[in-house]
Amino acid sequence: MERKETSINELEAAKQLNIITELKARFDQEFEKTGKKKTYHIETFGCQMNSRDSEKISGILKQIGYEETDTEDADFVLFNTCTVRENANNRVYGRLGYLGKLKKSNPDMIIAVCGCMMQEASAVEKIKTSYRFIDIIFGTHNIFKLAELLQIRLDSKRMVIDLWKDTELIVENLPNDRKYSFKAGVNIMYGCNNFCSYCIVPYVRGRERSRNAQDIIDEIKAFAEDGVVEIMLLGQNVNSYGKTLEEPITFANLLQKIEGIDGIERIRFMTSHPKDLSDELIEVMKNSKKICNHLHLPLQSGSSRLLKIMNRRYTKESYLELVSKIRKAMPNISLTTDIIVGFPGETEEDFKETLDVVNKVGYDSAFTFIYSKRTGTPAATMEGQVEETVAKERFDRLLKAIQAGSAKAAGKDEHTIQKVLVEEINAQDSSLLTGRLSNNLLVHFPGDQSLIGKIVDVYLEESKGFYYMGKLINS
Ligand code: 5AD
Ligand code: SF4
Repeated sequence: MERKETSINELEAAKQLNIITELKARFDQEFEKTGKKKTYHIETFGCQMNSRDSEKISGILKQIGYEETDTEDADFVLFNTCTVRENANNRVYGRLGYLGKLKKSNPDMIIAVCGCMMQEASAVEKIKTSYRFIDIIFGTHNIFKLAELLQIRLDSKRMVIDLWKDTELIVENLPNDRKYSFKAGVNIMYGCNNFCSYCIVPYVRGRERSRNAQDIIDEIKAFAEDGVVEIMLLGQNVNSYGKTLEEPITFANLLQKIEGIDGIERIRFMTSHPKDLSDELIEVMKNSKKICNHLHLPLQSGSSRLLKIMNRRYTKESYLELVSKIRKAMPNISLTTDIIVGFPGETEEDFKETLDVVNKVGYDSAFTFIYSKRTGTPAATMEGQVEETVAKERFDRLLKAIQAGSAKAAGKDEHTIQKVLVEEINAQDSSLLTGRLSNNLLVHFPGDQSLIGKIVDVYLEESKGFYYMGKLINS
């Protein structure tokens, strides 16, 4: 039976496609007059979710008739923003100031700002008062409306603001672009229901909603037919995929379905919340030929006391147990993590618990963050905010512990032959190709650019810590 939202989604998609066609006709006419294609430039801040959103934006703009350019000196400039930490916001304001100057010499330039920061009333207020030259503001829930917003802006010459608090809509089948021909991100769910007490994501990305499994499968099949060999499944907590669907399905089950798609050779996913990582998933990963040998498992803190206040719903002990279960099933798996230092009330003892977990797990690598106060989250008003100097000092100690672990983990595949997905010509030395191992580490090796996008056998000659130097094995 078709669900109500599906039909609303389809109507909305049809409406947007109409507007795209209208705008395209208008742009084609202008092109006939001027002989000049209009250009666009997207600046993406933040996570892979934003990168994927930017590909969708790019798809819409290309369909309208814009051509991509890599400088901000373009006819349409869009900032897709992040607000997970304060410094992300500050970077956006800095760059917007520069755009204002560019617009003075090109008054017809259209500037749009979207993404997580725009879901915060204070940021929008600041833009409305201090950056009045901005033309279009929208959020995370209505990216699919970009063509409509652009049309309103072109017709009205006023600032267009369209912000939704939350949505149940998942609008499929709009144009979308891909940065790489051979690998693609695929959203499997949107939003987050976890409300970790430091995190702004549930407020700016809304409630958790999963895409229908069949829509995901169809998208991946189409990618595979188009030459994609590696996919990255994206969601704030992929382990709770499917729970909100009419016909519930587990993430492990979805992975099994994707495993069956011809042409897809590698499956990655992020992010996994430790509290929801099931035995079923470990089993599926262990038996899979396509799921990559890598798991990103955010720890955030090693102190059970802080984890409780962070609302993470696992303890130091249960996290370590989970890690040993995973390692028992997949001894060679690469584990990476996210850790926050300086969460309100963090004591030296709490921090030492974090170091203890880091030393015990021996992560291959980690993203480490100094706690950043986000207005509206429970942690922002908690007592015991940690002084910057203390947090910085702990951050440095944490980095050293992570580096010691990754130095040990590095090189474990030295002198073996491994499969490498060739991604690009090496930026420093054009005689070399750069590719990725299943565990996500980079490998550089001599080779011809015709191999880009292919999975090849490479002998890992020498470990350089965070990457290998290798030699192509001709099969
Ligand atoms: N301060 C610092 N780091 C944060 N993260 C999320 N919110 C904050 C915050 N307020 C980190 C978490 C998360 C990653 C994406 O960003 O570690 O896993
Ligand atoms: Fe933020 Fe926690 Fe949701 Fe991750 S799981 S997005 S850290 S609230």
